[in-house]
Amino acid sequence: MAEPDTEKFYQDADKYWKEVPATVDGMLGGFAHISNTDINGSTKFLRQFIRGENAKTKSHRALDCGAGIGRITKRLLIPLFDTVDMVELNPDFLNKAREFLGEHADKVEQYIAKGLQDFTPEAGRYDVIWCQWVLGHLTDSHLVEFFKRCKVGLAPDGMLFVKENVTSSDEVDKDDTDSSVTRPRDILVKLMMEAGLKIIKEEKQKGFPKGLYDVIMFALT
Ligand SMILES: C[S@@+](CC[C@H](N)C(=O)[O-])C[C@H]1O[C@@H](n2cnc3c(N)ncnc32)[C@H](O)[C@@H]1O
Repeated sequence: MAEPDTEKFYQDADKYWKEVPATVDGMLGGFAHISNTDINGSTKFLRQFIRGENAKTKSHRALDCGAGIGRITKRLLIPLFDTVDMVELNPDFLNKAREFLGEHADKVEQYIAKGLQDFTPEAGRYDVIWCQWVLGHLTDSHLVEFFKRCKVGLAPDGMLFVKENVTSSDEVDKDDTDSSVTRPRDILVKLMMEAGLKIIKEEKQKGFPKGLYDVIMFALT
């Protein structure tokens, strides 16, 4: 995508998310009913890399990027990892997370209120970094730099997971409501390659209602 007026792109997203209710429905733009299918698909995809004989990485610590109120932290990451960190733009969502996670909140070590464009994971800290439904809020160049910083943030054998909407055409769709973009798969992959990432596995999420974007899960190193 051509770099938009970067400052306005981020300011508008910040404004948008400040107005969104701190609920699962808010996180999913009114699609709370797809959350179970989403989490089940993610669990199946992620488990093969962290459990069993063919596990590729460990399950000590994960990072949830653009974590919102912790929908993914609670249902995907906490059940599979010893500890989880959350990074999220809107501090109100992180405050809500403490309540939303309930008895599991003590498994979260760090609540980090930052935009991913300004965030640098601590080197070697994470076995898994999970990015879902947030990378359309970064410009292309910021996304490449963020991917590079994620690589540094991974522990030995650590893996990066990306789960994002993709367009079915070769055009980038712009959403002026939440100030984000939806990229075609090939552009997303090109940005991954620019960051020096390698795709280990790629899978389309099944079972979402018709009329939504395709959603692809990538496992990367
Ligand atoms: C569509 S919601 C998804 C939340 C969560 N990933 C989930 O699937 O439940 C997008 C989230 O990204 C956050 N966000 C938006 N721009 C961001 C940025 N630049 N850096 C970090 N988080 C951002 C929003 O505040 C919101 O919590």
